[in-house]
Formats: sequence, C-alpha cells, structure tokens
Amino acid sequence: MTLRYGRFDDERREYVISRPDTPLPWINYLGMEEYFGIISNTAGGYSFFRDARLRRLTRYRYNNAPLDLGGRYIYLRDDATGQSWSPSWQPTQTPLDSYECRHGLSYTSIAASHGGIRSETLYCVPLGQTLEIWRLRLANLTAERRPLSIFSSVEFCLWDAQDDATNFQRNFSTGEVEVEGSVIYHKTEYRERRNHFAYFACSEALAGFDTAREAFLGPYRGFDRPIAVERGSAGNSMAHGWAPHGSHHVRLELGPREEREIVFLLGYGENPVAEKFDPPGSQQINKRTVRPVIDHWLQSGNVEAGIRGLRERWDELLSNVNVSTPDEHTNRMVNVWNAYQCMVTFNLSRSASSYESGIGRGMGFRDSAQDLLGFVQMIPERARQRILDIAATQLPTGGAYHQYQPLTKHGNDDIGSGFNDDPLWLVLGVAAYLRETGDHSVLDEPVQYDNLEGSEAPLLDHLRRCVAYTLDRLGPHGLPLIGRADWNDCLNLNCFSDTPGEPFQTTENKSGGVAESIFIAGQFVMAARELAAVVSLRGEVEEGSRLLAGAAAMAGTIAEHGWDGAWFRRAYDFFGSPVGSKECDEGQIFVESQGICVMAGVGIEDGRARQALDSVRDRLLTEHGVMLQQPAYARYRIELGEISSYPPGYKENAGIFCHTNPWIMIAEAMTGDGDGAFDVYRRTNPSAREAISDVHRCEPYVYAQMIAGRDAPSHGEAKNSWLTGAAAWNYVAITQWILGIRPEHGGLRVDPVIPANWPGFRATRRFRGATYRIAVIKQGGTTGRVTHLIVGGARVEGTLMPLAPAGATVDVEAVVGE
Ligand code: GLC
Ligand code: GLC
Repeated sequence: MTLRYGRFDDERREYVISRPDTPLPWINYLGMEEYFGIISNTAGGYSFFRDARLRRLTRYRYNNAPLDLGGRYIYLRDDATGQSWSPSWQPTQTPLDSYECRHGLSYTSIAASHGGIRSETLYCVPLGQTLEIWRLRLANLTAERRPLSIFSSVEFCLWDAQDDATNFQRNFSTGEVEVEGSVIYHKTEYRERRNHFAYFACSEALAGFDTAREAFLGPYRGFDRPIAVERGSAGNSMAHGWAPHGSHHVRLELGPREEREIVFLLGYGENPVAEKFDPPGSQQINKRTVRPVIDHWLQSGNVEAGIRGLRERWDELLSNVNVSTPDEHTNRMVNVWNAYQCMVTFNLSRSASSYESGIGRGMGFRDSAQDLLGFVQMIPERARQRILDIAATQLPTGGAYHQYQPLTKHGNDDIGSGFNDDPLWLVLGVAAYLRETGDHSVLDEPVQYDNLEGSEAPLLDHLRRCVAYTLDRLGPHGLPLIGRADWNDCLNLNCFSDTPGEPFQTTENKSGGVAESIFIAGQFVMAARELAAVVSLRGEVEEGSRLLAGAAAMAGTIAEHGWDGAWFRRAYDFFGSPVGSKECDEGQIFVESQGICVMAGVGIEDGRARQALDSVRDRLLTEHGVMLQQPAYARYRIELGEISSYPPGYKENAGIFCHTNPWIMIAEAMTGDGDGAFDVYRRTNPSAREAISDVHRCEPYVYAQMIAGRDAPSHGEAKNSWLTGAAAWNYVAITQWILGIRPEHGGLRVDPVIPANWPGFRATRRFRGATYRIAVIKQGGTTGRVTHLIVGGARVEGTLMPLAPAGATVDVEAVVGE
C-alpha cells in the first residue's frame, strides 16, 4: 500500500511528486495576475486570459477517461529507433526510467528520463505578462550521438469554452490560423468581432508544424499516439474549420553528454480594434505588437530572469507572515501553502480547478468576499480593488447577485440573487481590510449599484444597505429570512423542487414561507458589530450605538428562539418547524450555527457557547474533521432541498467541510481552549494528512472543500480541492486565533490560544509598514493567556501592541502568565 506519492521540499517551497499515477490529478496554478492556467502533475490542464469561460486559450475535456487528458504536451522521439515517449508521462504513458514533478509557487517543473535522455520542462507565467513559458531542457546522458525529434502540442479552444463544447454546427467551420516562422497563431473569429488571438511560439527553427488536430493525430487516434510523432514528421497542416491545433516539430542531434534548451511560449495577444490587421485592409493579424514580446521571452536569459522574478515576488509576499512553531505542518501551511492557496482563491474564486469547469461558476459574491479575509495582508491594494468590484455588483435593495463574471465584472443574471447571507459577507470583508490597513478612505469611494451609471454612492452606503437588508427581512421569530439559501447553498427551505434537473438554487421559490436562518442571525451580529466599530471611528457615535443595539437585540433573539437546549438550532423551515433540533429525527445538530454564533460572541458569557462546542465534539467530530450535521438525511426531503439530495456523508449532507472547521477552531480559541482548537486544525491540515494520501486522495498541499463524512463509504476521502473558502478561513483561524496575531483597528494584538504542550512559538508579522518580531513565551503553566508584552524592552500591559512607525522593526515578547 502506498501512503505517500511525494514529499514536501520546504526549503524550495515545492511539493515533489515522485510518481505520475497519483490517486487524482494533483494540480497547480500558473499565473497570478491576468493570464492563468491549471497544470497537473502530468502536464494536463488549460489556460485562459482573465476568464476561464469567455477567454479560454486551450481546450480541456472534463469528465474524460482517463480523468486528466489534454494539456501542455511535449513528445520526444528517438529518431534512430523510432521510439517515442511523453516526458510528462501523459498522454503516452510510456514507462519512464525516472519521473519527478515539482509544484512550486506559480510554476511547475516536470523531469523525466527515458533511454538515456533526460528532460525537464518548467512551466510558468512571468510577472506582468499574458503568456506562459515552457522551458524544455534536454540532456543526453549517454556516450552516443542521439538524433531526436521534439513535438509540442496544444489544442486551441474557440474562446468561449461553453460554446466551444456545444456549438459544433458552427464551430467546425470557423477555425482559422496563421503560421509565421516558428510561431503558430490561433485567430478564430479575429476577422469579425474579436481583437484577440493566441500564439504558440518556439525558439528553434522548425522541421515542420501542424495546426489541424486531425492531421497531427491521424484519423481515430488519440493524444496517446499521434501519427505525426509515430511517423517522425509533421504534416505542415493548416486548419480551416474543425479543430485548430498547435504543434511544432523540431529536429536536433544531441552529442554525448550534451545539453540543450528549447523554449516554447503560449500567449494571449490583443490589438487595438483600429489596428487589427497588417497590412491594413488585409485579413492578417497585425503582429507588430506581439513580435517583440515573443522575441524577448524566447531568449534563455530572459526566461531565467522571469523565473527569478517570480521567486522574488513570492519571497516578498510570504515575508508578511512567517511563523516558527513546534508543529511542522502548521509552519509549512502558514508560511507557504495556505497563503499560496489564498492567493489562488483570491484570483479565481470558484471558477477553474479540477472540479470547477471554468464555464460554471465565475466569481462568487459570498465566496470572494470571504477570500479577502485570508488574502488582505498579502496585497492590500488588490484587496481594495476587489472590494470595490464586488460592491459595484450589489443591488440597490442591498441584496446581491450571487455570482459575477470576471471578464465583465457584472452580476450574472442566470444565477440571480436572493441568498440572504450574501450582503453581510461584504461587511466582514471590508472590516478585515480596514483592520489590516487602517485605510478608511475606501469607505468614501463612490461605487455603483448593479454597475449602473449614475447610481454611485460611497462604499459606506453599500455597507449600511447590507445590514439593512437583513433587518428588512425578518421572519416570525424575529430571525432573518433565509431566502434561497444562506452560507449552506444546499439548505433550500423555500424551493420545494420535485422536477428532475431543476437547479435548487435558482428555481422559483415557493412564496408565503417563513423560513428563517439562525446562521444569518449570528452573521448579522458579527457584521453589525463590525460596522458599528467602523462608523464609530468616523465619529458616527449614534449610528454606532444603534448598530450595537441591533446586534444585541439579535443576540437576544438567538438566545430565545435559536437555542435548542444544548446547541444552537440551524433554521426554521417554510412551515416554522425547527431545523437542527433534537425534535428532528435527522439533521439534529449543524456545525454552521455553532461556529458563527460563538464567533459572534453569543453565549460566551453564560456558558452556552461552551455547551454548544461540547455538543459539536460529541456529535460531529470525526478523526477526519468536524461534519456539517448529524444524523445525515437518509431520504430526500422536499422541504429542505439540495442538502438531502446528496447521499449521506457527501457534500452538504453531513460531509466534512474544511470551510466550517475553522469556525469551530476560532470558537474554541475564543472560549480559551487551545488544545481543542488545535485538535480540529490538525485533523484537516492537508500536510498532516499527507501520510494518509491513499485515503485523502487529493493534493496534500492544499485544502479541499470537502472530506467525506462518517456516513460515506469513503470516509476521509477529499474532493473539490483548491477553490474553497477553506483556504481563507483556515488561514484566519490558525494565524489570528490559535497563534492569536490579530489585526485590529487600533493595532496588532497578540493573544494566542495554543496547545498545552507547546512551550511557545515565534513569528514575524508585517503590519501597516512595520515589522514585528514576536516571541511568545510561556512563563507560567502549560495553559493560560498572554498577560503582558515586552515591546522593545518596555512592559506593556495587555495584548495590544502599540503601533510602530512604518519601516520600524520591533521586537516583542508576549508573556503567557499562570
Ligand atoms: C461551496 C460554495 C460556498 C458555499 C458552500 C456551502 O463551497 O462555494 O459559497 O457556502 O459550498 O454550501
Ligand atoms: C451545488 C453544490 C454546493 C455549491 C453550489 C453552488 O449545490 O453542491 O456545494 O455550493 O452548487 O452553486
């Protein structure tokens, strides 16, 4: 039995995969600005410019067999014997003498050897560019001369990935390309309304090329045995319709021990509409804009500089938060991989992964607002822009489109609105930004509603409407109405769908219901308090007290109507019956309301918070993390919606959501239980789960949305890795609550709640321009809280560090008392 498929190289910040047949494709992301790609450990995946649906460069077939087929392929051929192989193992699956894939931060490198030829291909997107580099290094390990053929291969997508996969009656006739020297240009629809094109360039003179997929592959052949590779010569085909393709054929001979480097570039080009053609009036792409870019990046020295630039960027990004604790899994995730995943979720929201097809979900209002929580310390300016983009899709009612398209930044009408938790997340995201940066000027930025010109109002007005939106929609218990759903997309209490295939989230809701959410109630308490603090800082004292009074009233309503005796209820359904209560035969206790209510401070003083968390331990905790609810729903319940559509143990029907686990960690920390908090953290920490990779199956370096719960036959198996709010929330839980280094409006707080057996830990945190070097030292017993700080030698009572001037480096000792 194989437990591991690789190892962490902490020094180089890489995960090193040592065999190609991982349980699932283990992917990485290229690009972190505008041009993106996903890449698997066998070079599968695809690329796009800004929007995985609307500006797709290359094609990818989800739901394929084998699972991950189609990618950035290179074929090598020994021209003496006619033998060929894939140096990324896929797609030929020819046995390799050695294989190693290194997924690093925004690059992936795949090395292999076969018959005395060693290859290493490094894939990355240099900063500021809309292109990806494939740098292929070849080495002849033998004492003979080796004549080789190299074939590259990408399958172009006809831009709109949804249309590309469906509209064949048109698409089989629209494909167009140009070839100039060693550059293949894909220009489908360029003659009409598009002013963008793709290019695929090679640093070498070509022996041939193919731009028509069928000519490259041969009839009835797949990517595992292209006819061009078998034959050892390309067909010099020009695509007219059908499937435009990019393949270069390079011939070279490697002397004994000789090494060579070949660079391929796949890129996105755009021309001003008035200058699309060259010569003007022709139908040829104007290549004057893009040629210098291609020439630059084909040069080895520039490629090296590009890779170095990426490394330096990541050094800088990760230096904002660095910790050294007694637990290597914590260090590794906080210092590298969890932060990295926060960048990826910030960039891509829920759009493109092995599970998100790029054509389904764009940017989520709720999702992207939450992603900010784990990203804001990395590049605050980008977080600021994202806040303004999200807020501009908000509806004048205060409600929100559930999703928006990254290319247009406009709300997505297909999905619509009415998820009543959505607006409150914006308040929480903005509050996190303000606490991190102190930049209150953002509140005065004029922002449109529903992207309508003339509707501009200050961001603060948007936040006020977010909060008012909840108060305008209260049910019979005085709790917030749930609408289509709250955080749990699948708790559809007004949907009542009995028609196969109807989407639970967008099908017309039954009217007249009174379904209320205790989750939104807890979230409202949090958001109203956050907004109260923000407006009070602006001197709006009266508004601040009104908001606090509103929060207190809602906390009272939760106490009265949301408490079930030993835990918080989850909701009231359409008919006013409780969900998540001992009165129910299934779904008696849900994690979300325990997490959010305690995080909002409800029940901390009167002991109900502790009781709720004990109930979570008793009823929801498994060796693989905390389940969403118990008992799982065994049959479909029309009044609860999608949640009961999943087989027990999967997804929202009692799966383990890595997104909600951190709420329990935070809640445990807030009640002062460091062992309890860290115990939950450890169970879902991907690095800690690496040792059971054959059970977990997803990438061991990033969080997955879900791990199968106790009721599932595959308990412990992860799914939906990468694009999940688990990234941001775990980052917040471990850095701000367990390690306790927490940005607040008035400064940085150091209030750790760590395991009893830790002697302490060290951390470096950059905050508002100053660098704090923090040592947490236990002087008293094994448990206890920080009582005072020694800041630059001087004693400060409490846990809030005085703000240091920008540029300063401050040494801080945080002393844990008895
Ligand atoms: C998915 C969604 C997220 C939702 C969660 C629970 O992760 O992206 O928005 O809150 O599922 O349903
Ligand atoms: C599906 C998924 C759920 C997700 C939702 C978003 O319902 O099961 O997890 O949040 O889609 O649209």
